[in-house]
Amino acid sequence: MKRFTRIADVANLDALLSEAMDYAANPWRSADLGRRRTLGLVFLNPSLRTRMSTQKAAQLLGMDTIVLNAGADAWTIETRDGVVMDGAAGEHMREAAGVMGRYCDILGLRTFPGLVDRDYDYAETVLEQFVTYSGVPVISLESATRHPLQSFADLITIMQHRPVVRPKVVLTWAAHPKALPQAVPNSFVEWMKGAPVDLVVTHPEGYELADEFVSGVHVTHNQDEALDGAHFVYAKNWSSYADYGRITNSDPSWQITEAKMALTNNGKFMHCLPVRRNVIVSDAVLDSPRSIVLDEAANRVVSAQTVLAEMLKALA
Ligand code: CP
Repeated sequence: MKRFTRIADVANLDALLSEAMDYAANPWRSADLGRRRTLGLVFLNPSLRTRMSTQKAAQLLGMDTIVLNAGADAWTIETRDGVVMDGAAGEHMREAAGVMGRYCDILGLRTFPGLVDRDYDYAETVLEQFVTYSGVPVISLESATRHPLQSFADLITIMQHRPVVRPKVVLTWAAHPKALPQAVPNSFVEWMKGAPVDLVVTHPEGYELADEFVSGVHVTHNQDEALDGAHFVYAKNWSSYADYGRITNSDPSWQITEAKMALTNNGKFMHCLPVRRNVIVSDAVLDSPRSIVLDEAANRVVSAQTVLAEMLKALA
């Protein structure tokens, strides 16, 4: 595996999932695979889980890690070509990524969307430049439009907790005071479409995700109808794709409460975290045995370890 930025980068999802289950059962089984290899983790935006889980995954494989909080500690990076760099940016991505590729065998990059220019964000300009100019395998640590390590961890968690072979999985929007990216819901849909689940997406009018993700997916504006009989409820806010990056609905009734969970088939509650309590989900749900958010976070180590192991094998 040369890059892990979207589901299309995975040649065989069943095989990758099988590897993940083996790492979940025996995290130290490849403790020497990454010896004398260096992983660079570059964060243009904040992170708790991705930073710690990916470092932990590298440790389990015997890798060394270098973490760069590039958004705070490095030079501001220019991504446009042919510009006179007399503004805020002190370095171009061509050199910045090229240098990092000389220091590291594998690189990870976190880069959020600006939520202003949809074409720029959905072209994955920053991530694609990083891949091109670094010259080494790259893992997305969440990009403008996708969060594949999170989605892979979500899939592992669903497979571990599923009460039936083909569970009903609901992705539901919930209101939030800040405009958030579409990366997590886009990616979740992309991964669930390839998984043995029945997926339903529910959100208010105006929050339709891009066709490239939800084409062929059952989408409804009726949250209660979606939750009926669900085995898993995945809550997440996202800003509008059509009215790009804007908040057009703040209806608090989309919050996941005990009453909403009562509509499900003993459903489990999921969220990628961080989550705002009593905004996205009530305390009563998040603190109940229905919540498997900590298992999802724990599986971030498993998803990262599995992907890193595939990349290390390709380097060997
Ligand atoms: N879920 C997730 O990616 O968390 P962080 O933003 O804290 O890394």
